[in-house]
Amino acid sequence: MQKYAVFISGNGSNLQAIIDSQNKGEIKAELALVISSNPKAFGLKRAEKAGIKFLVFDPDNYTNRQSVDRDIIIVLKEYKIDFIVLAGYMRLLTPYFIKHYPNKIINVHPSLLPSFKGASGIKDAFTYGVKQTGVTVHFVNEKMDNGPIIMQDTVKINEEDTLETLEEKIHRVEHRIYPQAVALFAEDRLKVKGRCVMVADKSGKVDAKASADPAKTYVPARTMKLKDLL
Ligand code: GRF
Repeated sequence: MQKYAVFISGNGSNLQAIIDSQNKGEIKAELALVISSNPKAFGLKRAEKAGIKFLVFDPDNYTNRQSVDRDIIIVLKEYKIDFIVLAGYMRLLTPYFIKHYPNKIINVHPSLLPSFKGASGIKDAFTYGVKQTGVTVHFVNEKMDNGPIIMQDTVKINEEDTLETLEEKIHRVEHRIYPQAVALFAEDRLKVKGRCVMVADKSGKVDAKASADPAKTYVPARTMKLKDLL
């Protein structure tokens, strides 16, 4: 069974959704470690309550980003971590880190990428006045909020929405789809070709029609290109 780590910096509600899904037996991998950049992150309490080992790497104790990442990598190797789930981790990983885990790091972003990248995706979409925004789960590459997209789901913004109600709606969607993405990753069902991520069925076949799994809804509509992709 693969082992994974969740990286957090704050509330950790996505971590909680993953823990809950894990406890229901939906994720076939071991959540072996929680790493936080913030010693005061509420998510650490969630990890503790769930009995998951957690560690803090406070950037204030380091002189540069790479030395933080170097220490984290040492620990990840020690714990034999196979993949990494970023859940509100408010630090940009260095290229040095990402090179150690190519296509092994996923992130959840609270907008429909490539719109509204950055740390305030919900607010930026709200103030821009878009009628729909959403949630993106994607692989992490060296550019911010740029890697191949695994899943997206939309959220409507109505006239009566406030920033707060929109945040609630976004988080609800995150908590639903992020554990699903982690589960697919754990089962090695995310197949990356260039920018395109296909979801394989349980037998490992990438064929939307053959898949009886709800995850098939996330297979891009471009299935006619599948044979070229594989
Ligand atoms: C989420 O909105 C996530 O999309 C973004 O940071 C937020 C983290 O929230 N990357 P939480 O700490 O999981 O509650």
